[in-house]
Amino acid sequence: MADDEGTQATNDDASECKRYAVQLGYWNDPFINYFIRQTTRKPPEINRGYYARVKGIENFINKFSKLSGGKGQIINLGAGFDTLYWRLRDAGCSPQNFIELDFPTVTAKKCYHIKKHKQLIDKLNTEDGEIRFSSTDLHAANYHLIGTDLRHISELSNKLIQAEVDFNIPTLFLAECVLVYIDSNTASALIKWLAQKFSNSLFVNYEQVNMRDKFGQVMLSNLRCRGCLLSGVDDCESLETQQRRFTINGWEGSNAWTMVEVYDSLPESERIRIERVEMLDERELLIQLLQHYCIAVAWNGTMFKNLSIAQG
Ligand SMILES: C[S@@+](CC[C@H](N)C(=O)[O-])C[C@H]1O[C@@H](n2cnc3c(N)ncnc32)[C@H](O)[C@@H]1O
Repeated sequence: MADDEGTQATNDDASECKRYAVQLGYWNDPFINYFIRQTTRKPPEINRGYYARVKGIENFINKFSKLSGGKGQIINLGAGFDTLYWRLRDAGCSPQNFIELDFPTVTAKKCYHIKKHKQLIDKLNTEDGEIRFSSTDLHAANYHLIGTDLRHISELSNKLIQAEVDFNIPTLFLAECVLVYIDSNTASALIKWLAQKFSNSLFVNYEQVNMRDKFGQVMLSNLRCRGCLLSGVDDCESLETQQRRFTINGWEGSNAWTMVEVYDSLPESERIRIERVEMLDERELLIQLLQHYCIAVAWNGTMFKNLSIAQG
């Protein structure tokens, strides 16, 4: 479908922006170059926004790793070219299992890049040295990359089983700018199914918020011009709608912060460092951008109850 092509292309955009910011020194990611070769200049407010996104999500990943003591699993929904598996491995923080899901056209490209680069494939844990590939899927001992459409739950369920999912261990779901591309009813059904299946889990969702104001409407029309319909945008109206989509769909609790709050919660020394990477003429524009994205978390069970954005 043409809409799906626009949605899949958002991965190229996100990966290019991340690569550019890494190249400038905003954060360290030795693996992103293997997935994205070329990138063009991006404005400083975009780079700072990506920095806040990556560090804000990383904070919750670290909390999940500590609380689950390395005995949990991470399921990355709409993972695109995310390099998290390799970064965690380098940091000695690999979870018990790591599953990445995206459209088959995107996972096929990711499989190709992984196969092509020894630096990536050598880091996939293999007990018996075997890595199973198809054109769209890859299975190693604790890493599974799977092509599927998240809107089709029965297929997703089968694919998760192929990826050796364990419904009983602590589970972190990541969705970074993904649910907004799925119509609200379908996204709700997905969120509800995950809540029913994983009783000890944390969901970390990064996406748009405050979409009904003027700036939000301009963002929406820009994205629509690029072929992205954003059929799930109704849930991006406010922090309350972001939380409610979880609590009405079986999650025990939820919290949400705008990226202004997330940015301000980052360690001061780091903020000072990255604010020196590039001059920012239009601070107002950065604030507006950060006001229109958020991190929402939702939990099931007591292990991940009431996690906050405070660092630690
Ligand atoms: C903006 S990109 C973000 C990629 C990655 N999470 C990141 O932040 O770098 C959104 C991703 O979600 C995926 N996606 C959106 N809807 C999906 C669906 N119904 N099924 C599978 N993947 C989907 C897209 O293909 C794309 O790779």
